[in-house]
Amino acid sequence: GFYYNKNHDDHLYMDETSIKQIIERLSSPPTPFVLYSLNQFSYNIRTYQHALAELAPIRTRLSYSMKANYNPHLLTILKSSRVMLTTVSGGEMQLALSSGFEPSSIIYNGNGKTDESIQMAVDSGVLLNVDSLFDLEVIFQYARKLNKIANVLIRVNPDLSDSHVHAYNTTASKTSKFGTSIDELEPLFTKIEENQDKWIRLYGFHCHLGSTISNTQVIVTCVDKLVALFDTKRFPHLRFLNIGGGLNIDYKRYANRTREQPEEPIAIPTIEEYIQAIKAPLQPIAKLVELIVEPGRSLIADACVLITRVLGQKQTGSIRQLVVDASMTECIRPALYQAYHHIDTIVSSTTDEHTLYDIVGPVCESGDFLGKQRYLPKALERGDFLAVFDVGAYCSSMSSNYNMRPRPAEYALDEHEQIKVLRKRETNEDLLRTYCVD
Ligand code: LLP
Repeated sequence: GFYYNKNHDDHLYMDETSIKQIIERLSSPPTPFVLYSLNQFSYNIRTYQHALAELAPIRTRLSYSMKANYNPHLLTILKSSRVMLTTVSGGEMQLALSSGFEPSSIIYNGNGKTDESIQMAVDSGVLLNVDSLFDLEVIFQYARKLNKIANVLIRVNPDLSDSHVHAYNTTASKTSKFGTSIDELEPLFTKIEENQDKWIRLYGFHCHLGSTISNTQVIVTCVDKLVALFDTKRFPHLRFLNIGGGLNIDYKRYANRTREQPEEPIAIPTIEEYIQAIKAPLQPIAKLVELIVEPGRSLIADACVLITRVLGQKQTGSIRQLVVDASMTECIRPALYQAYHHIDTIVSSTTDEHTLYDIVGPVCESGDFLGKQRYLPKALERGDFLAVFDVGAYCSSMSSNYNMRPRPAEYALDEHEQIKVLRKRETNEDLLRTYCVD
């Protein structure tokens, strides 16, 4: 992982190597660029796997929500760790299949699936999450056409939400666009029952309460509601209970390094606590159930930093602006959700004189900021390096080319501490490749 090496030089390290050394080895790489600690990623996977194993004799499966970050190198690590993949588009499903994941280890979820993607899922035998009656009807159509049995879970909307979660990140309140509410499931049940074993098999139920959840009680209530749906007399194939993902990470754990006070400290459960909380409500179906959890953020977010350079600083009214070369195109979470990402120097500067800055990017949008009112050294100047922490989830995968900005290079260290390129920086030609000029 990433840490300041207090006992040595107080530099920011990734595993055994300082970021400064990595920058030197890359001989002044174009910034911004992304750095992965693959050790941290593997550690997070193992933490989930151990926590799930503690639920034995209940059977469990870990499925990575690949929308968080679909860098294909990460998928190879997941595959060798026997993790499943949750996909949300034909593109993600195709990448999962071509990366060698078994169709039975792939879940395809979505409230608006295209014909092509449904055909691909039914044809290859991927597990499909049925979102609504219309979704089910199209899935039937393709099962009949291809003469195959569709293997499905139903995405249930349990009408629950964690009040701390940003509105854009809640997915299971009554009026949410995802899933079918419990009192509207009967038409789906009837249709499945009529065609059971002919075109369809109902393997389980799925729900996802939203992202950045810090409250295990809401998960427990949700599991209770889903367990009550397990009528194996009516649907003998039932076994999967997929509780989705959503566990938050502590984005503010470094904040006091730079004298920032978390406004409202929220205790975030550990992975172990989160998984343990699910044990009791599963008891009524403990013998038959296979629990699936599908985290994204808590597997990859803290395994990655974005390295950016200062372009300059200036005063605008009462605000000191620190302009850096990274922006909302690499990390949109602050702009979109007012999300906190810690930003710090790559050499500890706790003894330097600090001042309060807004840290902004060069993109032509007033909403383009990475952090507001952060303490950083007064003396920061053009060319100085900063790290934006916890950018592994929903940064690279939500990046854009706005303002014709190339997507950044992504690097990792391999087991011999050699630098590995996981993605090349885009070129101007890459950005123009799909346009037709004449
Ligand atoms: N399962 C389903 C059905 C999901 O929709 C999601 C995320 C996950 C699992 C994984 O959730 P996670 O463990 O990563 O919280 N762009 C937002 C997050 C959107 C999450 C969408 N669904 C952000 O940057 O905060």
